[in-house]
Amino acid sequence: MDRIIIKDALKRTDYGNEVNVKGWVRTRRGNKNVSFIALNDGSTINNIQIVVDLSKFRDEQLKGVTTGSAISVIGVLAESLGQEQSVEIQATSIELYGTASSDDYPLQKKGHTLEYLREIAHLRPRTNTFGAVFRIRHNMAMAIHTFFHQRGFFYFHTPIITSSDCEGAGQMFQVTTQNLSDIKKDPQGNIDYSTDFFGSHTALTVSGQLEGELGAMALGAIYTFGPTFRAENSNTPRHLAEFWMIEPEVAFIEIAENMQLAQDFVQFCINWALENCMDDIKFLSKMYDKELIDRLKFVVDNDFERLTYTEGIDILQSAIAKGKKFEFPVDWGTDLQSEHERYLVEEHFKKPVILTDYPKDIKSFYMKQNDDGKTVRAMDVLFPKIGEIIGGSQREEDFDKLTKRAEEMGVPTKDIWWYLDTRRFGTAPHAGFGLGFERLILFVTGMQNIRDVIPFPRTPKSANF
Ligand code: 4AD
Ligand code: MG
Repeated sequence: MDRIIIKDALKRTDYGNEVNVKGWVRTRRGNKNVSFIALNDGSTINNIQIVVDLSKFRDEQLKGVTTGSAISVIGVLAESLGQEQSVEIQATSIELYGTASSDDYPLQKKGHTLEYLREIAHLRPRTNTFGAVFRIRHNMAMAIHTFFHQRGFFYFHTPIITSSDCEGAGQMFQVTTQNLSDIKKDPQGNIDYSTDFFGSHTALTVSGQLEGELGAMALGAIYTFGPTFRAENSNTPRHLAEFWMIEPEVAFIEIAENMQLAQDFVQFCINWALENCMDDIKFLSKMYDKELIDRLKFVVDNDFERLTYTEGIDILQSAIAKGKKFEFPVDWGTDLQSEHERYLVEEHFKKPVILTDYPKDIKSFYMKQNDDGKTVRAMDVLFPKIGEIIGGSQREEDFDKLTKRAEEMGVPTKDIWWYLDTRRFGTAPHAGFGLGFERLILFVTGMQNIRDVIPFPRTPKSANF
């Protein structure tokens, strides 16, 4: 008999037919005549109830059927009298694949803290919470590919190992095959990479943007979607050392269209979640965040507020003048802290905000320079509860301006000659941005900590599993 997944079994109404389901036992309760098994196979947050008439089974057969064990059940679909489900299975045979001893199976009881579950990340996908989060994560990936595919963008694969530091922040993990206890150095004491695998200094990418631009300047509109790595020592609920980023890059658009693309994109993804993940969202909302669904709908239905960094600073400074207290000072020219971003979004505008035209000294070398000589055409999308969810810009397309800015900022232009070539051959206005995938998942799930929206988080001092 073909096995069916529990998600499909729960929709069936052909009572009386025999089916086969397989899964892990969530709970088993009952009395000396009958057992009720809540079975879950990961296809949905919902369990199917297996009703076991104990007179039809030998004790031996059922002894190992405890919380966490894996079983296969053949039985008859029946209308359920219970409130929680409409269909259940009356077991005719049960095969036990693997036991989970109640002495040491860690997910025995419900109600473990999220912190504890991080320590057993190998098992936490079996909980309701993490099942929901990871199903939503999958759905968001599908939404992203669908959005761009429908709009004629091409999925462009940029390298993970690179010799350039796109963001210029120097927070890269090195990649080497050298023997670390015997590193070769030249007579001046510099590391000799000629014997290293790639023959040069290499590291894990912090962003696919530079190569993404090469794609956009040929295919017109591309997006990347892959892992990125930052060795920044930020132990916060919003930073990972390994995270996934989606980076669209489009030729012949400027910042206004880039902002609209960003808004359309995140609204499409959130709407996708509302249409396809409601069981999981409802569960997470009930458990962690009562306002989640309203917040998601609000973001889908409302335009994002657009203003410049300078206007944002004015708003923050007048709030301070009226008595608002921030931990960090607000000065034109310094980067906004998350508390400032959240004030603008959550208290002042009460909706997502797109800030543009940041001071050039706090942004990367590749951003298009404004005529004021002080600001660049950057854009950050700020979200309630999250702060920065997207960072992007219109790119500097002028070869001389770009080269000069790279030199001013200490970016070694000889290493990015290939990038600069796009400005020498058929340069054109273009723009793009990067969405932090896990920050989107945080927003959609209502979870509080970025370690809880990626299966196996990498953070300072932690790379287990
Ligand atoms: O603002 P960032 O650094 O922008 C770039 O990397 C550009 N190259 C993007 C582009 O224009 N193509 O990063 C983009 C986004 C941030 O807005 C944030 O959502 C996420 O990536 N992000 C992180 N997410 C988790 N952990 C970290 N350490 C992150 N750093 C950035
Ligand atoms: Mg940024």
